[in-house]
Amino acid sequence: MLRTLLLMLALTVPAVAQEAPTGGLTDPLVIDRSATGGAPTLEDIMARQEALRVDTDDRETNVVGDGTAPGPGTELGTRGAASDSHLWRGIRYDNADISATNRGPAATTLIQDGGMVWTQFRNDTMKLWGAWFMGGTLLVLALFYLIRGKIKLHGPPTGRTVTRFKAIERFGHWLLAGSFLALAVSGLLVLFGRIAIIPLLGHQAYAPIAVASKWVHNNISWAFMLALVMIFVMWVVHNIPRLEDLRWLMRGGGLFGGGHVPARKFNAGQKIIFWSVVLGGLVLSVTGVSLLFPFELPMYAAIFDVINATGLPQATGYGPLPVALSPQEDMQLAQIIHAVVALGLIAVAFAHMYIGSVGMEGAYDAMGDGEVEERWAMEHHSIWAEEAIAKRDGRAPPQDATPAE
Ligand code: HEM
Repeated sequence: MLRTLLLMLALTVPAVAQEAPTGGLTDPLVIDRSATGGAPTLEDIMARQEALRVDTDDRETNVVGDGTAPGPGTELGTRGAASDSHLWRGIRYDNADISATNRGPAATTLIQDGGMVWTQFRNDTMKLWGAWFMGGTLLVLALFYLIRGKIKLHGPPTGRTVTRFKAIERFGHWLLAGSFLALAVSGLLVLFGRIAIIPLLGHQAYAPIAVASKWVHNNISWAFMLALVMIFVMWVVHNIPRLEDLRWLMRGGGLFGGGHVPARKFNAGQKIIFWSVVLGGLVLSVTGVSLLFPFELPMYAAIFDVINATGLPQATGYGPLPVALSPQEDMQLAQIIHAVVALGLIAVAFAHMYIGSVGMEGAYDAMGDGEVEERWAMEHHSIWAEEAIAKRDGRAPPQDATPAE
């Protein structure tokens, strides 16, 4: 069930699951359990030890007892009614008829099969890969700085400036950046607290850090969502992909001495940042709100239904994604997707922060006071610059702005 999706997420990763671990894309081992009435056989135990993928369909559904299981007291039978394997299987696979006085949405799930897979993925695989990904990005940026250095202006400054971002645009940007950084720091403190901070500072010191991080994370999220809507509304027209973006990408944006590549308000690299932030931010917002209101917004069964209809999961060899999810599985999916997207977006933000500050001469001014040097505008966004300069000087915008090289 949930395991299938998590294994897909961790396709490139070594063994994730504890009980029915990775078997790659191979079919699960089908085991004849007729001799034990559905209970695990010696073959099951051996397969588990070899970390092979074992089919559990039979066990998941074999929960009512059809009279074929060995009776109490017989060889392979239970020791009495109190040890009812059918009942326990039903409880484990969420098929038993449970009633509880607690009316919470997850109250009747007594054992959640898949919980260990999620815990392991979150605590080991995800943290390890996330740390490497973020650290690797920082390393690549440092190397880039050492090799390429700061991207400087080629010509002399003109002494004239042109308005690049209005106050409202800069407000939206800094609200997004400020809230994102607060969410990133508090989220990382919670995720890596146990392995990175407790060993360093101890439990006593970590406790208030964790409480403060949780408060920041829960409350600043609204500012992030507001800012996301603001920048989307203000900048989406400038970020619609165009044919010239391909040309910009093919010339590497002129980063490695390829001359100036013409660009409008945003070049192809910036469009990639914009869409990563908008789409990643949307996923973070949806999964974040569902984590903020636990069990209130189950959504993955419906989403998986739509994905299954495309036939894609079946084509990968794993078969359809699960559409009957326990409340806990839904929350676990929200947590994993939230964290994986966040770790990816933090790495993207590192690259963006680098180029917007130390990486490029004159770039920061655009978001500082909104005015950029005319030379900078012509060298980095020539098509936009011609229009903006004409507007500033009260001239009609060029009809067919020739890219200034
Ligand atoms: C705190 C450090 C940051 C700095 C110094 C910074 C700087 C800048 C600058 C200078 C621009 C304008 C570039 C231009 O004139 O062409 C810009 C644009 C933008 N920023 Fe930031 N920024 C920061 C953080 C962030 C964060 C955390 C996000 C979102 C997660 C973000 C999202 C954007 C987006 C979507 C744009 C428009 C597309 C682009 O220029 O790449 N910024 N930023």
